[in-house]
Amino acid sequence: MPLASADLNSLPDSTISAVIVLAAGAGTRMKSGRPKVLHELAGKPMLWHALHSAAGLAPSQLIAVLGHGRDQVGRFLADSADLPPVVIAVQDQQLGTGHACACALAATGELTGTVLVTYGDVPLLQTSTLTALANEHANSGNAVTILTAQLADPTGYGRILRAPDGELTGIVEQKDADAQQRSIQEVNSGVYAFDGAVLTDALGRLSDANAAGERYLTDVVGIARADGRRVGSVVADDAVETEGINDRVQLAELARVLNARLVRKAQLAGVTVHDPATTWIHADVTIGPDTEILPGTSLQAGTTIGSGCSIGPDTTLIACTVADEASVVRSHCHGATIGARASVGPFSYLRPDAVLEPDSKAGAFVEIKKSTVGAGSKVPHLSYIGDTTIGTGSNIGAGTITANYDGARKFATTIGNDAFIGSNTTLIAPVSVHDGGYVAAGSSITADVQPGDLGVARGRQRTVPGWVLRRKPDSAAAKSAQAALTERESDTDQPAGDPPSRSITASAQFESQTGDRPA
Ligand code: UD1
Ligand code: CA
Repeated sequence: MPLASADLNSLPDSTISAVIVLAAGAGTRMKSGRPKVLHELAGKPMLWHALHSAAGLAPSQLIAVLGHGRDQVGRFLADSADLPPVVIAVQDQQLGTGHACACALAATGELTGTVLVTYGDVPLLQTSTLTALANEHANSGNAVTILTAQLADPTGYGRILRAPDGELTGIVEQKDADAQQRSIQEVNSGVYAFDGAVLTDALGRLSDANAAGERYLTDVVGIARADGRRVGSVVADDAVETEGINDRVQLAELARVLNARLVRKAQLAGVTVHDPATTWIHADVTIGPDTEILPGTSLQAGTTIGSGCSIGPDTTLIACTVADEASVVRSHCHGATIGARASVGPFSYLRPDAVLEPDSKAGAFVEIKKSTVGAGSKVPHLSYIGDTTIGTGSNIGAGTITANYDGARKFATTIGNDAFIGSNTTLIAPVSVHDGGYVAAGSSITADVQPGDLGVARGRQRTVPGWVLRRKPDSAAAKSAQAALTERESDTDQPAGDPPSRSITASAQFESQTGDRPA
């Protein structure tokens, strides 16, 4: 969801002074040259999702704590036009989650009011859940409010400790927990709301006397309670929102969950999705109502689809714009603009800056690059069109190739309005076929065809009479030919073996030149 359309109803009751997103960890289990938080789900890095959800709260400051891969992550943040400004805090050594928050405060100066902490590797957390946390925090007058989750398998997580009356008394890390504590299934998600002043004070008092030798953010809970402050919690409705990603198995699992969410959102907005399991919709994709998505379709980042379209099956659209009522069947399109009611595929390959104007067509086994197909024009079969402008109402015959590349440079082809390019034509650029110009089938066109002219550029046909009968006398072809000629002789009294006579009518002349019939 683009920031501009962030749901104002999800804003918390009171203002949030900061959200700190921890993202300094190494992510060694990804086994990747890329920083963990830049691995993508739904076409965006997991950090983007984390920041986007945080930004939905409209905090006064959004802070990312970076460490491992911070140059790459910093570059991503600088280049992300669809995120609000992010303050970057650097944590050189990963001395623990408490230390990471202290690094954030060092970058921002003192933070008062409500401060939330989340993780850059927890991409499914929704703004609405953060809002519920912030509201509980404000309405209960807590100094610390923890987002917890109930897990069937709590292994690895910090466990939530409660007094018999249910009051939250602390968090114990797996490494530091005894057997009884390890059996607790309520875990710390690692997402919190803090009173900024309490957090600042407690961070200065953390010790690293624990099993990991780290400064635990979780110890802020014990410090706040010892100071007589209120600590509360909110249980996440759906524990999957609190799941972090450590390896590529979890990446794929959470990507599927996120995709299911995006598919459902599209369905509820009026899009028919025939097979949610094989339909992939990236986070920033928009689709109009009454559009139908067939199985095996991947709608990737930067794609916008109008209403009443039919997309798929087995289609990938990357950064494409598709206008209302267009259809795209079994095709791969990247950076293409597909106009209203245009028809693409089956098996089309549209490359960057392919523009299909309304009611135009790119048909079977057609590749189009950096070219415009004008309104109502058709490229129905087996063509390569590159660096070409086609006007309106033109027909490009089967197997037409624009030869746009001489091995070093690219050249343009121009085809006007209502032009006709016969089948199996090579248009050797730079070349133009002007308005109403025709090109005969099988031509290699090197010179411009002026309005209303016919360009013919191919060897004239030579027929060798009786060649098969003489050279392959015992062949099946010779036998069939002989039979046909004998029959013809009995019909017309023509002597057997003579070449068939043909009267060349205007129509047949046209057919032999253009490979097609006049309308
Ligand atoms: C932490 C919590 C644990 C909770 C779990 C939820 C502590 C001490 N423990 O455990 O109670 O159940 O998260 O996932 O906080 N990070 C930094 N700098 C650091 C250390 C961590 O930026 O020095 C970041 C990591 O990149 C990661 C997040 O903080 O995004 C959590 O770090 P991680 O090491 O996974 O914490 P856990 O030990 O799993
Ligand atoms: Ca973890």
